[in-house]
Amino acid sequence: MSINGVNLAFRTGYPASIGFSKKEPIDEPTLNFINWRYKETIELLEHLEGLSYIDRSRINSACDFGAGCGGPTRAVKSFFDLEDNNIIALENNRKNAEVIINSDILPNSSVIIGNGIEYLQKGERKFDLITACMFGSDLNIYSLFDRNRSTPDLTVEFLKGAAKSLNENGKIIIFSDPVTIGKVKMFCKDQKAKKNLDYICIEPPGIFISPNGIYEYGTDPGVVIITEIDPDKIDTHI
Ligand SMILES: C[S@@+](CC[C@H](N)C(=O)[O-])C[C@H]1O[C@@H](n2cnc3c(N)ncnc32)[C@H](O)[C@@H]1O
Repeated sequence: MSINGVNLAFRTGYPASIGFSKKEPIDEPTLNFINWRYKETIELLEHLEGLSYIDRSRINSACDFGAGCGGPTRAVKSFFDLEDNNIIALENNRKNAEVIINSDILPNSSVIIGNGIEYLQKGERKFDLITACMFGSDLNIYSLFDRNRSTPDLTVEFLKGAAKSLNENGKIIIFSDPVTIGKVKMFCKDQKAKKNLDYICIEPPGIFISPNGIYEYGTDPGVVIITEIDPDKIDTHI
């Protein structure tokens, strides 16, 4: 939807690429933050590759859900050597999405502003990889997957959506804090028992110290890789 050439994707949620062309300079703290998130994600991907959980040669398209300012998006793009038209970032915060574009991580056409879950649930585009990085206790932000929040079934809704937008043999990687990962693991364990999905859970390397020195992610962050998932079977309740 557009009025006077201004894309109202943020309001409508989907579809969207943002309709602005002027590039704003990125301030130094934001750049540092992007670089930090980039480095963390690259280290994670290298670790997963070292354990043979991912294979660069099999990933030709990717979607980064809840991309934030784009550090992990940039990591996924460069690690798998993806062209701009083979990767998208889903981000519902317009300011964050603008940073992704203004810092040249991705062009307008590859950044979708709005509810990424709604986008994924449409299943209009399929990806070899869907990433969801650090939806956790990011300073004062509580876990996106926390069932006590206003969107209690976000884990389920995200996975149902992601399943619809995955290629055959596609994978979903969720990398987050202990609370978030604990909930994802609990859900996946139940769904695996019902043969609705298969997954691997591992500890990532290193510890997580933010640029300002705050130890953000508790003692036990983790990674869940969904290796198989049936979008028609995932249960809403565990
Ligand atoms: C904790 S931040 C993580 C950002 C980034 N993945 C990283 O690791 O640096 C979570 C991000 O998810 C975005 N987000 C939350 N719910 C979303 C949704 N339903 N669709 C798209 N983005 C969402 C938020 O705006 C926020 O930028």
